[in-house]
Amino acid sequence: MDFAHQLRVLRKSKQISLRELSKRLRYDRAYLSRVENGASPSDELIKATATFFRVSERKLRLAAGKFPKDILNILSHYPTEAASILRESLGVYHANGDLFSGPVETNGYVPRHAQRDDNKFLNRILQGDCLHVLSQLPAASVDFIVTSPPYADNRRGTYEGVPPERYVAWFLPITQQLKRVLKPRGSFVLNIKERVVNGERHTYVLDLILRMRAQGWRWVEEYIWHKKNCYPGYWPNRFRDAWERCLHFSLQKEFRMFQDAVMVPMGDWRVSRLRNLSDTDQRRDNSRVQSGFGKRIANWLGREKAYPTNVLHMATECANRGHSATFPVALPEWFLKLFTKSGDVVLDPFMGSGTTAVACVRNGRHFVGIEINPTYRKLAEDRINIARTQLPTDPHRHATLTLQPQKI
Ligand SMILES: C[S@@+](CC[C@H](N)C(=O)[O-])C[C@H]1O[C@@H](n2cnc3c(N)ncnc32)[C@H](O)[C@@H]1O
Repeated sequence: MDFAHQLRVLRKSKQISLRELSKRLRYDRAYLSRVENGASPSDELIKATATFFRVSERKLRLAAGKFPKDILNILSHYPTEAASILRESLGVYHANGDLFSGPVETNGYVPRHAQRDDNKFLNRILQGDCLHVLSQLPAASVDFIVTSPPYADNRRGTYEGVPPERYVAWFLPITQQLKRVLKPRGSFVLNIKERVVNGERHTYVLDLILRMRAQGWRWVEEYIWHKKNCYPGYWPNRFRDAWERCLHFSLQKEFRMFQDAVMVPMGDWRVSRLRNLSDTDQRRDNSRVQSGFGKRIANWLGREKAYPTNVLHMATECANRGHSATFPVALPEWFLKLFTKSGDVVLDPFMGSGTTAVACVRNGRHFVGIEINPTYRKLAEDRINIARTQLPTDPHRHATLTLQPQKI
């Protein structure tokens, strides 16, 4: 909470008007109003405010970004270690969430470590509406986002839904926040599928893509999650739905992508196919239908693995006790291998039963999870703790943290 905000809260708690305060503190009312709107308070005003409201002057100074000399000393002499030194020496401020809850400014100098509050957000399921919680995450702080939001009001009765006609308006402020917290070379994978309304597919996903592009996202690719084991059924005007979209967005043309991490075995076909190569196989064979595509089969000689396609064949989660819409761990796992490295930070703003976090734990990535429903948050935490106990004991793997409930 900054000084301006603190002053407003203090005034409200004592039910004292700005006019009255200006009289009591003997400060110009216009000046006090400017301070309440974000202008930097003088040292004297901080002192007078602390005395008048009987609160800690040191705490108010911190809120105003005016650090005591000992803290300034640490920040300027030990910028790299500043965050951990200050956490230890100022445990009480940190515990109150005052010191590291936002960018720390000291005469224009912002230490890199002080900009990110690892302890508060990292490897936690933050409970709340993601729109609100996201606004508290530092800018450009996550490497990758993967999520499966409620598909409009598909699952009314198990968790809140949004009617299809309001879906885009509901989601856009969230994607705006996601844009803010994602690092410039990061990616966002959105697992979503439009529902059927009145006998036809609604267009909210297509509308959303267009509006996100207008918001500044690049729609790089659409992966298809083919649900290998979907339930049989009959519909008079369509067949059973066996796929969902995984939309890949980025913020700029160049983004981080590690294609080798998701290569697949070539398969047995190559043994017979590559045994006797024809002349055509030795050179680039352009498509006879002028499609512009071509291939040189000989390129695959001696190779064990090939790049996959954009269709992912994965079974849906059958053992999803406690949550009605889980995706399989293999889904976020595939994408986080493709778009992140070990130690990176992965965000899922609709964490549900914690599937993305489990994938992160198993693959040495940090996660930031948000979930509105306390029952699902608890379910997610239980799954994460189990996943941690199943990790092979490797001292070089990322530190095992015990989850503590966190409310925002
Ligand atoms: C499709 S489910 C996600 C399932 C998840 N991928 C899993 O494997 O368990 C969507 C989740 O978003 C949560 N949710 C809905 N609205 C939310 C909001 N505004 N903020 C945070 N979570 C929300 C729901 O409670 C639900 O658990």
